[in-house]
Amino acid sequence: MKTITKEKIWLSSPHMGGGEQKYVQEAFDTNWVAPLGPNVDNFEKSIVEFLGGNTNVAALSSGTAAIHLALEILGVTSGDEVICQSFTFSASANPIMYLGATPIFVDSEKDTWNISPKLLIEAIEARIALGKKPKAIVAVHLYGMPYKADEITRISEKYGIPVVEDSAEALGSYYKDKKCGTLGAIGILSFNGNKIITTSGGGALVVKDEAIKKKAVFLATQARDDAPHYQHSSVGYNYRMSNILAGIGRGQMEVLQSRVDQRRFNYTFYKKHLAHLSEVEFLDEPSGYSSNRWLTCILTPSFEIREEIRLALLEENIESRPLWKPMHLQPVFIEYPNYSDGTSEDLFNRGLCLPSGSNLLESDLKRIVELILTKI
Ligand SMILES: Cc1ncc(COP(=O)(O)O)c(C=O)c1O
Repeated sequence: MKTITKEKIWLSSPHMGGGEQKYVQEAFDTNWVAPLGPNVDNFEKSIVEFLGGNTNVAALSSGTAAIHLALEILGVTSGDEVICQSFTFSASANPIMYLGATPIFVDSEKDTWNISPKLLIEAIEARIALGKKPKAIVAVHLYGMPYKADEITRISEKYGIPVVEDSAEALGSYYKDKKCGTLGAIGILSFNGNKIITTSGGGALVVKDEAIKKKAVFLATQARDDAPHYQHSSVGYNYRMSNILAGIGRGQMEVLQSRVDQRRFNYTFYKKHLAHLSEVEFLDEPSGYSSNRWLTCILTPSFEIREEIRLALLEENIESRPLWKPMHLQPVFIEYPNYSDGTSEDLFNRGLCLPSGSNLLESDLKRIVELILTKI
């Protein structure tokens, strides 16, 4: 007997706007098939226009590369300690390891699920007491929800420790009228295939000072000295974005706001149809916060109920995903110090990301909601 496969619903799939191919074609027509060119320049310019304020943007090969360069520019080196939000994707922490530094993980608070100001102070003071003042703080706007920027910035200034603002999931979110990506000493963005807009793979560094952008581009293009021959006085990377991919990025920037609107619509739809259930909890925006709602997440009463919903969706060919497993519980990072109170572990155990793509149809959302309603 032939089995009928239900149509797949992805967690968060790429959503082209239609304008991308024109810019990619331009790159072919003009032979700018290189990790520089007009698409890279114009993509950067469109991000600067979107973010506003006093920003300079360097388009790179990935968000991970951007975090790596950000930490290097801030002077992180072998033997240093770097504080990192524990509740995140591993790419927030991996670059700390690339530099031979030690990650110090800090747990989240319940209002935004991001780095806890209270535990951050506790961690900084404990490390200073040990004679190891941290060199940087990696704070993350997880799932698009801004971290408590006023508090975190105040702590950063008080102790003189700069923030690398991991805005990989938060392009289009804002905090008290400031766009995410512009809130830290250095901001980073990701254009990975699952993000709110994508270049298939890519990222960007956001800085205030043009000289810092120049340094980032220098490091991202093999740190070549100013000489007619190839001369190098420092170690460089091959981290610049390709002009082909930047063409995709230009087209995507033209539809960014509609992508944010659609993802916010997804959240509202889920909330409208599921919030009455005592088994389903949503994370509201605190006043003054606006999340791009990259992924809509729900909290269930227990690991068992979370799994019941996830497996029921899977059975119907619908992809969902447990919330990020905190870094301080990951085998690769288990030996590093952490300052935790169980918040992110609890979120991980009970939380689920629902399909959230901007290309979901209302019929897809209905299918998901109806299934959850029958399972609870
Ligand atoms: C929170 C966070 N930080 C960093 C990254 C790394 O970005 P990329 O995949 O572009 O390297 C991602 C996404 O992949 C992410 O979700």
